[in-house]
Amino acid sequence: TIVVLDFGSQYNQLITRRIREFGVFSELLSHKTTAEEIKKMNAKGIIFSGGPNSVYENDAFKVDPEIFNLGLPILGICYGMQLMTEYLGGNVEPAGVQENGQAFIDISNTTSGLFAGLPSRQQVWMSHGDSVTSLPEEFEVVAVSSDCPFAAVEHQEKNFYGVQFHPEVQHSVYGNDMLKNFAFSICGCQGDWTMESFIDLEIAKIRETVGDKKVLLALSGGVDSSVVGVLLQKAIGDQLTCIFVDHGLLRKNEADEVMESLVGKFGLNIIKVDAQKRFLDKLTGVSDPEQKRKIIGNEFIYVFDDEAAKLDGIEFLAQGTLYTDVIESGTETAKVIKSHHNVGGLPEDMTFQLIEPLNTLFKDEVRALGTELGMPDSIVWRQPFPGPGLGIRVLGEVSEDKLEIVRESDAILREEIANAGLDRDIWQYFTVLPGIRSVGVTGDNRTYDYTIGIRAITSVDGMTADFARIDWDLLQKISVRIVNEVPHVNRVVYDITSKPPATVEWE
Ligand code: XMP
Repeated sequence: TIVVLDFGSQYNQLITRRIREFGVFSELLSHKTTAEEIKKMNAKGIIFSGGPNSVYENDAFKVDPEIFNLGLPILGICYGMQLMTEYLGGNVEPAGVQENGQAFIDISNTTSGLFAGLPSRQQVWMSHGDSVTSLPEEFEVVAVSSDCPFAAVEHQEKNFYGVQFHPEVQHSVYGNDMLKNFAFSICGCQGDWTMESFIDLEIAKIRETVGDKKVLLALSGGVDSSVVGVLLQKAIGDQLTCIFVDHGLLRKNEADEVMESLVGKFGLNIIKVDAQKRFLDKLTGVSDPEQKRKIIGNEFIYVFDDEAAKLDGIEFLAQGTLYTDVIESGTETAKVIKSHHNVGGLPEDMTFQLIEPLNTLFKDEVRALGTELGMPDSIVWRQPFPGPGLGIRVLGEVSEDKLEIVRESDAILREEIANAGLDRDIWQYFTVLPGIRSVGVTGDNRTYDYTIGIRAITSVDGMTADFARIDWDLLQKISVRIVNEVPHVNRVVYDITSKPPATVEWE
């Protein structure tokens, strides 16, 4: 394991991703993690991420100083480098010249350390307002840029490395190679972390946690919870009961399809609950997105509680929470963007213990896991669908009529995208009902009806996204079908914003 300590950089997850791609397990942890905790994890190396603070400010994020005495290699990136040098006796000050964006570094040592085997001049990505101005004893400068005399530093003997630039972003052309050098040559990792080993480890962990107790799974039919279901069944067999809540916010035919594939193909023990009315009642009169999310999340748990009360001796609740859900819901250093319902909406009086076997994985890793578990492409490659479902795709107050409009238009969109063979290329695609009405004309008649928004994005993990460049003719076909086939829609628009600054969902 390589531990990445989080000082709040927007790039911090990228570091763990890159390292996992080399076959080395890596986890992003709070900067408050102690040396003792890191020792227990058997980590082979530590990375300090970048961050928005200045190390010389009083409320700057700190680190347990004992970490420097663990004897483990440390790589400090940007803020992480400044923090390390400050702790060990160097100096950090506001930079005379702010460096943001592309820069070139000249490297003095390409025979060992981070830059072994790399070109001596190369492009990197800088983003900093502070700079190291003097080094701790025994540290050496190994790279400079035109504006930064301490672009990379090292203490070879202790295996402490610092870079002012961001090797984890793609604009740092050889950044990946530097991280590889760190993980393999410097930390001595093997690169043998695979999905197969993840499954073995996770199954052992689940068995140990659960013992002979019973587990209830919140099955949504999406990739994540389906994978959790199959994984749990492998681990604990019939100690698992799944509950599938039809909250009335699902896509067209979705409930039937879920039951068919998971019960039919995998023999999961699923109880289907029809709770449409319950959810809709709770949502009546509510238009604030965060409130809607919390209500739906809470109601989910209450429904489970009710169902579980009918079952005997359930102690655990399993969920398909992903790493991105955990991080976007606000770790101590990242700001809350949306409270994803799996995490943010848990009521205080919850009576279950949680098991979240996917909470260290990114979406693409979950797909690889599903395939490794023998699950069919139809489940593994199902596009992501948010827990609050169509409830956050009808903007503002939700009603059955509005849900119907989204459901029908979404079904048309999905059908046409599949017919065009694009269902794997486009990461996620759906329709939303903004709730605005506008004037149109049908035949000779004026209409005053709803607008449908189409959202279609490309992404790797949902953290960042770009709008999909769908062919005009295909968009036209979809638009024509939606206005013709879905009552009360007279206008279709295409969302051409990326994330950031927009998010994927409209609420
Ligand atoms: P946003 O809108 O946050 O979406 O850019 C990123 C990805 O997450 C999905 N999403 C959710 N998934 N519970 C989930 O399980 C939620 O509450 C939730 N909100 C958004 C969204 O569909 C996209 O794939």
